[in-house]
Amino acid sequence: MKILITGSNGLLGQKVLSKALEENFEVIATSKGSDRLSMKNAKDYIYCDLDITNQNDVFCIIQKFKPQAIINTAALTNVDLCEDDQQLCDAVNVQAVKDLVEMCTEFNIHLIHISTDFIFDGKNSPYSETDIPNPLSYYGISKLKSEKLLISSDINWTILRTIILFGVGQSLSRNNLILWAKDALENNRDLNIIDDQFRAPTLAEDLADACISAAKKKVYGIFHVSGKDIMSIFEIVKNIAKFFKLSTDRINKINSSVLNQKAIRPAKTGFVLDKAMTLLNYNPHSFNDSLEVIKTQLIKK
Ligand SMILES: NC(=O)c1ccc[n+]([C@@H]2O[C@H](COP(=O)([O-])OP(=O)(O)OC[C@H]3O[C@@H](n4cnc5c(N)ncnc54)[C@H](OP(=O)(O)O)[C@@H]3O)[C@@H](O)[C@H]2O)c1
Repeated sequence: MKILITGSNGLLGQKVLSKALEENFEVIATSKGSDRLSMKNAKDYIYCDLDITNQNDVFCIIQKFKPQAIINTAALTNVDLCEDDQQLCDAVNVQAVKDLVEMCTEFNIHLIHISTDFIFDGKNSPYSETDIPNPLSYYGISKLKSEKLLISSDINWTILRTIILFGVGQSLSRNNLILWAKDALENNRDLNIIDDQFRAPTLAEDLADACISAAKKKVYGIFHVSGKDIMSIFEIVKNIAKFFKLSTDRINKINSSVLNQKAIRPAKTGFVLDKAMTLLNYNPHSFNDSLEVIKTQLIKK
């Protein structure tokens, strides 16, 4: 099977690339920037420098390689930046998806797109796929707009919604909550952690498995794909400390209002995972088992 990955230097993109190579897929990995990640023990793959907001370049690459599926992991994922720079947010998270949908229509390509728990307002957790979205932030609005582009199209599409992705990657442009907290705890920094927002953090490998499964099985529709443990951010950080045997003395409980973040976040998300478990064979790690995976990967690094 031939697939094209966008955002292949991002956290999810790296994991999807790695899993696709394990599956012996023919892979065209694309990311913004000229770097080709050196995948250890991996077979060869094609790498293209591709900014997904450049419609002409996207068209040329899709026309040249004609993949059977595109896994769109590229996005503007900084929620506060999306609030500040709505034009950029629209360009990456909406307009580029519109272009991908048009090209998938023209070349009959299955589009697998990643969305977020931030399309919900956080009042009715855990959410199932049929629950009504009500985004609170511009990021959430942009992702919901992108979903609607796929849903109203004639292409074969899969939308995988996820929650706080974490994992170990190479030269990532953004840190993730788990590695950030572990580092801060190890360096005895004071941590002010909110206890009024609840999430189900997702090991990036688990979501990558779901992406590959959707491509292989040609399963279409909306799927909720997150970790299975719903915890407050405070509980998440306490669990990290406990797992890595680090002191919890410097973890202070605070309220979200103190943070003064640009974008409003939903209070409590978390997903019902039954549909993904049944149709995608999704079988996520527990949070503790995910930390075990992280620990092993950090040792090997
Ligand atoms: N991270 C989370 O907690 C979370 C939660 C819910 C949903 N999601 C969704 O999951 C997906 C994957 O997220 P992730 O955690 O892997 O994010 P990530 O690590 O930030 O990766 C996103 C990648 O997209 C790239 N990108 C940004 N603009 C681009 C453009 N114009 N053209 C090509 N590439 C571009 C980024 O490159 P640069 O960094 O170099 O700009 C980055 O490598 C996204 O759709 C995100 O919205 C993430």
